Amino acid sequence: MEIIVCKNYEEISKTAYKVFEEVILSRKNPVLGLATGSTPIGLYRELIDGYKKKRISFKNVTTVNLDEYVGLSKNHPQSYAYFMEENLFKSVDIDRKNARIPNGRKKNLNKECLRYSNLLSKTPRDIQLLGIGGNGHIAFNEPFSPFDGKTSVVNLSKKTIEDNSRFFDDINDVPTRAISMGISEIFSARKIVLLASGKNKAKAVYDAVKGSINPSCPASVLQNHKDCIFILDKDSAFLL
Ligand code: GLP
Repeated sequence: MEIIVCKNYEEISKTAYKVFEEVILSRKNPVLGLATGSTPIGLYRELIDGYKKKRISFKNVTTVNLDEYVGLSKNHPQSYAYFMEENLFKSVDIDRKNARIPNGRKKNLNKECLRYSNLLSKTPRDIQLLGIGGNGHIAFNEPFSPFDGKTSVVNLSKKTIEDNSRFFDDINDVPTRAISMGISEIFSARKIVLLASGKNKAKAVYDAVKGSINPSCPASVLQNHKDCIFILDKDSAFLL
C-alpha cells in the first residue's frame, strides 16, 4: 500500500487526477470504478478540466459506480446517479450507455444485484476510486461486511445515516438501505485509489492502514491489495 500525504484538498484532487490520467491514456478502453460522496468532487473537477483542455477524453471510457440508495430515482438530487450526472458525466464526452450504476428503484432488488454483479465480472476495472466512511466503510460495505461479498442490498449503519444526513433536509429522509458493490468486487480492480480528507476520517484511515486486517474495518482489506494508493491530507493522516 502506498501512502501519499498532501498539504490540502486541492493537492489530493490534483494528485489523484494524475493517477487517473495515466490510466485513461494508457488503455484503449479504460474501465473506471467511480465513487460518490464529497471527497471525490475535486478529482471530478480536475477530470472535467483535463477533458476541456483536451488532455483526456471519455469517449472510450466505461464507468461502473460503487453504489446507489434504495428507493431514490435517478432524478432525485441525492441519488448517486444524479450526483454522477451533475459532478462529471454532463461535462465530459462519455457515452451514457457506458456509464453504469446500480438501479435502486427496481422492484426485484436481488435480481438487480445479480445483474450488477454479472456486469462487474464482465467489466474488470483498471482503476477503482474509493472514499472512506467515518466507520471505515468502503462503498456501503459497513463494518463486518464479508471480505468475499458481492453486490448486495445492505442496511446502512446508524453512523452512516447520521453522516449522510447532511445532504438531506431531514435525517428521516435518508434511505436506510442501498445497493453496494461487494468487497471482493472492489478488491478485484487492478489498481485502487482511496481518497480521504479531514480529521473526522483520521481514525478510519488509521484502522485501515495500521490496524489488523479485519471486517470490523472494511477498508483494512486494502492492505492486501497489490496496487493500492491512499491519497490523504494532513488531517486525515494525522494518526499515522
Ligand atoms: C458514502 C458513500 C461512500 C463514501 C462515503 C464518504 O457513504 N457510499 O462511497 O466513501 O460516503 O463520503 P464523503 O466523501 O462525503 O465523506
